[in-house]
Amino acid sequence: MPLQIKSLDEYKSVYQRSVDDPEGFWAEQAETFNWSKKWDKVLDWNFREPDINWFVGGKTNITENALDRHLETRGDKVAILWEPNDPNAPSKTYTYKELHAEVCKAANALKANGIGKGDRVCFYMPMVPELAIGVLACARIGAIHSVVFAGFSATALADRIKDATCKMVICSDYNHRGAKNIPVKKVVDDALAMGCESIETVLVHKNTGEDVAWNDVDKWWHDEVDGQSTDCPAEQMDSEDTLFILYTSGSTGKPKGVVHTVGGYMVYTAFSFKNVFQYQEDDIYWCTADIGWITGHSYIIYGPLLAGATTMMFEGVPTYPDAGRFWQVCEKHKVNQFYTAPTAIRALMAYGDEFVEKYDLSSLRVLGSVGEPINEEAWNWYNEKVGKGNCPIADTWWQTETGGILISPLPGITDTKPCYASYPLPGVQPILVDPDGNELTGNDVEGLLCMKFPWPSIIRTTYGDHERCRQVYFSTFQDMYFTGDGARRDKDGRLRIIGRVDDVINVSGHRMGTAEVENAINEHPQVVESAVVGFPHEIKGQGIYAYIIPSDDIVDEDQFIKEIRAVVTKEIGPIAKPDQVQVVPGLPKTRSGKIMRRILRKVASGDASNLGDISTLLNPEVVEAVKKGAKA
Ligand code: WTA
Repeated sequence: MPLQIKSLDEYKSVYQRSVDDPEGFWAEQAETFNWSKKWDKVLDWNFREPDINWFVGGKTNITENALDRHLETRGDKVAILWEPNDPNAPSKTYTYKELHAEVCKAANALKANGIGKGDRVCFYMPMVPELAIGVLACARIGAIHSVVFAGFSATALADRIKDATCKMVICSDYNHRGAKNIPVKKVVDDALAMGCESIETVLVHKNTGEDVAWNDVDKWWHDEVDGQSTDCPAEQMDSEDTLFILYTSGSTGKPKGVVHTVGGYMVYTAFSFKNVFQYQEDDIYWCTADIGWITGHSYIIYGPLLAGATTMMFEGVPTYPDAGRFWQVCEKHKVNQFYTAPTAIRALMAYGDEFVEKYDLSSLRVLGSVGEPINEEAWNWYNEKVGKGNCPIADTWWQTETGGILISPLPGITDTKPCYASYPLPGVQPILVDPDGNELTGNDVEGLLCMKFPWPSIIRTTYGDHERCRQVYFSTFQDMYFTGDGARRDKDGRLRIIGRVDDVINVSGHRMGTAEVENAINEHPQVVESAVVGFPHEIKGQGIYAYIIPSDDIVDEDQFIKEIRAVVTKEIGPIAKPDQVQVVPGLPKTRSGKIMRRILRKVASGDASNLGDISTLLNPEVVEAVKKGAKA
């Protein structure tokens, strides 16, 4: 097991060591895993190309470390504890032995269907155990998983399948979601009708058992998996072989496939899991994220299982059957570590305290937050009403690209302060810079957040387009990884993440590119031009505000706005639906034709009083119209 830090002094000395001798430090962590061949070199890197290699020449399989390694000491310990959507349906458990057997069966089924090392397999599934089993089965045989959040539309799914030229899709028939059942396979069918020619097989997990249309490529999961052997040798992977692709939004263009590789990701997710959650052997750990996002990859599946933990998977939603569900589940399973997103905290807070006060939450020891800045009110409520003032809050800052948590308090070890992600984990070297890339030294400063040294789970490339990876993350400032976030260092040296400084907005903890939403809106034939910005939203953190110039022939504006929402839902999914749509005669532009987003952001946030100097605009006259029609 990687090191678990126990005291503040230890944190300070381990951190110093990780900076003075990163290779020595990470080699020690990596040595606690099983490798069939040890690495020749710990780290070989440059940020210019970028070309980053950890544990160079090492060979291992992440599932041997997440499953086989535990069989002797924890074989009968629960690995996955599954809680269904329906509170009256039974929960399900898989011990490490059982999970190992199921993963091997699924891995053999993948092989029997022509999937081998390096092939891409797309998942479009609800939060059922088979999703985790399928993902691990890919890792077992060296296939690359690409999990797509099951709330994305058929168009978005097709884009991702095509970009990664996946050979197989694994889906369910229907998803349970609160009181509704969602026809998931139908979305896959629609995506395949958009020409995903690389797909040879669709493996369908029978979840609700409702009727589905059946195509030539379709096979039932149970038909393929149930009869397989529970023994499947683990493919020995190079440290730098790809483990998975996960698509995320950026400020320009289509979502990009972030690539993580086997060795570094394994070492870092296990290390960060043990330290940030201070997991102890008999604890029940629950992360409420969906496996369709990086949080689910790193801190439902890989980190916890590598650490031999009991990790809970929850199929449902926080408000079904009512707003007490999270707390009911915490009481039922005596959860010790609870990890969720600020948007969920704010939403539940709005329902009133009685839902949380009804339940016995005395098992809780550590609370985690992830995905967006947590505002002070939500932090205090989480601390007082959920943690009863006894549970340190780990406000964890990280990204799809970082693979694991980079900045967070260590509960019970370092101090906590509302809104502060606070301190870097060992091996993480944050730096604040001004727009010219000059380091802002000392405390009480605010700037752009970068990393000046690689950590093991750093992004390696964007799938099929390495140049894009270089440009987006490694070209803004020389020899630094640029996060896209702004941050402030307080007078005591703690870091507070302020938010994105690029055209990415964070809606309910989900990343959305404004360009992506604009492209979707522009698919409507009566849209001349559109501009999308974020605005402060009480529950979602940020909402989506769209300004649209329609063509002249719009008669019914309400109908038009409805259609705009529908086209975004079709192109991306309901999570990208604009909260506000304002029809405008023009968009404020600079003389060089660039949209002045600064003005649009101010108007959207209801703060149009001081728009600064607009006299240099190409079309200052549209500003009045934009202000007049504002929905804020
Ligand atoms: C934001 C989610 C403030 C940030 C793991 C980052 C946060 C983006 C925090 C990545 C936090 C994440 N405080 N902001 N604790 N955690 N963010 O890729 O803007 O979905 O760049 O990864 O979320 O989102 P992603």
